[in-house]
Amino acid sequence: MTNLKNKRIVLGITGGIAAYKSAIVASKLVQAGAQVEVVMTGAAQKFITPLTFQALTHRRVYTNLFHLPPGENIPHITLADNTDLLLIAPATANTLAKLAHGLADNLLTAIALATPAPILAAPAMESDMWLHPATQENAARLQSRGITLIGPAEGRLASGAMGKGRMVEPGFVLDAARQVLAQHGDMAGKRVVVTAGGTREALDPVRYLTNRSSGKTGHALAATARDRGATVTLITTAPLPVPLGVQAVRVVSAADMQAAVLSHIDQADALVMAAAVADYRPETLAAQKIKKSGAGLALPLARTGDILQAVAHQRERTGRPRCTVGFAAETEALLENAAEKLARKRLDLIAANDVSRPDAGFGVDTNQVTLLFKDGAAETLPLMSKTAVANHIWDRTLALLVG
Ligand code: CTP
Repeated sequence: MTNLKNKRIVLGITGGIAAYKSAIVASKLVQAGAQVEVVMTGAAQKFITPLTFQALTHRRVYTNLFHLPPGENIPHITLADNTDLLLIAPATANTLAKLAHGLADNLLTAIALATPAPILAAPAMESDMWLHPATQENAARLQSRGITLIGPAEGRLASGAMGKGRMVEPGFVLDAARQVLAQHGDMAGKRVVVTAGGTREALDPVRYLTNRSSGKTGHALAATARDRGATVTLITTAPLPVPLGVQAVRVVSAADMQAAVLSHIDQADALVMAAAVADYRPETLAAQKIKKSGAGLALPLARTGDILQAVAHQRERTGRPRCTVGFAAETEALLENAAEKLARKRLDLIAANDVSRPDAGFGVDTNQVTLLFKDGAAETLPLMSKTAVANHIWDRTLALLVG
């Protein structure tokens, strides 16, 4: 479930070889639950057929400004007025030039001129065309008018040459679409900090102590908050992709994470600590690789700081974050342990999950959590995707921020 679900998107396709990638964009949008209306220019149809998109979207494809089936309204006005986003991918140099100058000589450019919806374009062309001052001026003019451009990317071009001009990959196009749609989300204007992943505590130059946290929940929290319009800082140890528009702070140890959290919460409305922070670290960091000797090895460990307790102290002084959310990953006495942590760490909300279940917790894409609130209320959620859990936590956090 993302913010693409039930969104009406006009996907405009112009004449470049990257038009084949638009079939993947259309397919991914449909899979994400969007209602996709495809509009193709004449040149686009030289590269890929309307039938491809009709099959992918299960809808008719629009190709002609003047074709008016009996009983239908003028297509450019209907499409322009009934869309949440106009996505043009690929956008050729020619189409960018037309948009920059307000030309409306085909259905797509007419829609672009008529629509109140945000416009996102993914330029694709040969490097020389992209770098030409005319295209650069057109791109700058479009951006100054609030149109979002994603790419072009560097790489191999249709001519075989290497350079900047490739359309960005379909996954990026979708991520950019989510980001543009987020501007009207219910978390617009909110600043949130999320932590993710298991910390790594170095023992020597080649070894560390860590835990089984994958970072999936934290990254899902960051992606969903971004999708809903929040300004997001993600403090993470996980080698997972970071959603477009999210500020990522890469950290390794519990000490790094604590320093990053304390320096990023000053303006935060909410902090969600989804990271699995080590409670102990090796007492000393060996300068050289530890060599084996003897039958066994005892490692002296020292306590790490409790980040949420440090946050509580800072919050007393600054009032930020306005809302603090923790996680309790337990293997026994789930609710008792979680309630104790809620109080000890002075949280507003804690998400308790039983990580001994195979379908909840580390590494998997689903989770089953019980939310415990400061006022004693509890809410047990069914097994759901980590994205759905993340959205639920944001729903409750938003309510706490308002209430
Ligand atoms: N946490 C933290 N700093 C630590 C350890 C944990 O801020 N040094 C945060 C986690 O990010 C999580 C919450 O505290 O949101 C609970 O983490 P958990 O490891 O379950 O709790 P601990 O305090 O480590 O308690 P225990 O070891 O008794 O389970």
